[in-house]
Amino acid sequence: MEYNFDKVYDRMGSDSIKWEKQLKFGVPSGLTPFWIADTDFATLPQAVEAMRARLEHPIFGYTFTPEKVLEAVQGWYKRRHGVDLPVSAYAAAHGVVTSIWFSIRAFTQEGDGVLVSTPVYDPFFVVIEDQNRKKVDCPLVYEDGAYHIDWEQLDAKLATVKAMIFCNPHNPTGNVWTAQEVERVVQLCKKHDVWLFSDEIHGDVALYGNRCTSAAQFAAEYDKMVVYTAISKTFNMAGLESSCNIIPNPDYKAALVNCMHGAWLMGPNCMANPAIAACYTYGDEWVDQMNAYLTENAEYVIHTLAEKAPAIKVVKPQGTYLMWLDFNAFGMTSKQITDELVKEYGVAVGDGSGYGNAEGFIRFNIGCPRATLEKGVEALCRFAASKKER
Ligand SMILES: Cc1ncc(COP(=O)(O)O)c(C=O)c1O
Repeated sequence: MEYNFDKVYDRMGSDSIKWEKQLKFGVPSGLTPFWIADTDFATLPQAVEAMRARLEHPIFGYTFTPEKVLEAVQGWYKRRHGVDLPVSAYAAAHGVVTSIWFSIRAFTQEGDGVLVSTPVYDPFFVVIEDQNRKKVDCPLVYEDGAYHIDWEQLDAKLATVKAMIFCNPHNPTGNVWTAQEVERVVQLCKKHDVWLFSDEIHGDVALYGNRCTSAAQFAAEYDKMVVYTAISKTFNMAGLESSCNIIPNPDYKAALVNCMHGAWLMGPNCMANPAIAACYTYGDEWVDQMNAYLTENAEYVIHTLAEKAPAIKVVKPQGTYLMWLDFNAFGMTSKQITDELVKEYGVAVGDGSGYGNAEGFIRFNIGCPRATLEKGVEALCRFAASKKER
């Protein structure tokens, strides 16, 4: 079946943060949004059907996550990521950030170092620092328009921390780390006896035919890890606030689940069960088509900017629907750029500076129909045309 990612939906009235909560840009709404990371695509029809079927039962009491739901996640991870772990390694949970917050709480102590690689998804800083752990940065290296890991520095810094948050694919650079890179990270964590918290929430959004390698593939080599996955990014279901943790070691799984239960967090809500099961059972073709569509969107941005606004440098994404754009040719801060894009061109983009180590960058969400994307790219081109390169 052919899915239609070109269809433009009016999201006003659906309580969409992206469209209806734009106050952080100084206006209540009205901007064309390319900021927060959800897409403007309708989700998998079978997932809507499954939730509709659940609605036929008019009682929404306390709900557990049945094994058949976890089997659907397990099946997906086996066929799409080559992860061969028993269903007992899977635990449904609230959102990924919540799960990382509790992983830090369960497995590290106050004062411990937790490593991140900036620029990176900024809630990682909050979950570390708000719990009085120490953020230790091993910045990615930006060279020739692409990002890579400084392995020597990573080795040295892992010797000083208790845990590492690894983002794969990496938000905001769009890196999909290769199997060799993921294994090397696992091996370095093993060498230094460091917890590996691998955030793979974007793990199914891989462009240009890439495949994301899950850290869970290497669980037999080292199992001091938690892998976080979800239907939220892949199937545009962030509003359900669900995720699934993969924890290969049963004792560690019990420790994390108990820690969450301590805060009375028992699992995702009752609508998440049918949605998760449907997505991971029927969603392969949908995801493949979305990834092909996103690849075309990325190509459109790359070629249009190269032709009409070459001063804006594009970090070519390998995964995610987030594009990382380097505006440093204009000599402006990220805030100045985002403010001007709001005021003069009516578009809302992500201010890159918040991700650390990234002044002068913006994050641009391409998870939208081409017609919407064209408006955003046109605004970027007009912005660039209005400037003189330094
Ligand atoms: C890398 C990464 N992790 C986690 C999240 C948020 O996950 P959740 O909404 O499940 O907490 C996002 C959302 O943008 C993300 O990009």
